[in-house]
Amino acid sequence: MERPYILINFAITADGKIGTSQKGPSRFTSKADLDRLLQIRLRADAILVGRGTLEADEMSMTIPAELKPKKQPLRCIISRQGLFDGDHKVFHSEGGPIHLIATAPEAPLPLTPPEREDVHHHKHTLEGFLHHAKTELEVENLLCEGGGSLVKDLFALDAIDEINLTIAGHSLIGGEKAPTITGLPRNFLPASREFEISHFEPTPDNELFATWKRKN
Ligand SMILES: NC(=O)c1ccc[n+]([C@@H]2O[C@H](COP(=O)([O-])OP(=O)(O)OC[C@H]3O[C@@H](n4cnc5c(N)ncnc54)[C@H](OP(=O)(O)O)[C@@H]3O)[C@@H](O)[C@H]2O)c1
Repeated sequence: MERPYILINFAITADGKIGTSQKGPSRFTSKADLDRLLQIRLRADAILVGRGTLEADEMSMTIPAELKPKKQPLRCIISRQGLFDGDHKVFHSEGGPIHLIATAPEAPLPLTPPEREDVHHHKHTLEGFLHHAKTELEVENLLCEGGGSLVKDLFALDAIDEINLTIAGHSLIGGEKAPTITGLPRNFLPASREFEISHFEPTPDNELFATWKRKN
């Protein structure tokens, strides 16, 4: 499959959780973690999230102007039915063009909210959208910021090249209903995926920044 280079970025607790079972915003990390996320965003031509993360984390999916981004990344949001909330802040904040993707064959086009000039509507499989992003939207680097259910689907496609983690070993969440970077415990991936460490950095906030790259 022709697709962009795909990075993911997550903050995880000592027990590998990325949030609570309530799927609220994950607030267990530091300002340094947010700064690092923004540095990673500077490498991205596009950011991709599932509708769940967009809503839970109240994201605008932008890079602050003071970081002087060469351009704002495309803001790509995926859903099965494509029922997006037009009042969400992402639709009312300055940033990169928005690409809404619905994967269910029966999803109506245009998706909600109604069409606007800077909002593009797609009906694709996840795999199909990755191909489209590379070949039509000229996305070389795509940063997926979650959530776990979307990232599990990317791992299932074997489409992840780089894993960035903030390991917040100072916190634990526990519970079988709190998600990990592959969502809630369900089926195995079709095969294990292998990565090798390329960066490891303890932070003054009692956390670790680490990066693993796909093992070829
Ligand atoms: N700690 C961290 O770094 C971090 C990072 C990201 C998220 N989180 C946390 O994770 C939680 C959200 O988890 P989540 O599993 O709900 O997130 P999610 O994967 O962002 O959202 C799930 C929704 O996204 C859509 N979706 C996901 N995969 C899809 C696919 N392959 N094709 C089409 N649509 C797809 C579906 O939307 P529809 O229902 O519209 O079909 C699905 O219901 C929040 O608590 C958030 O704070 C934590």
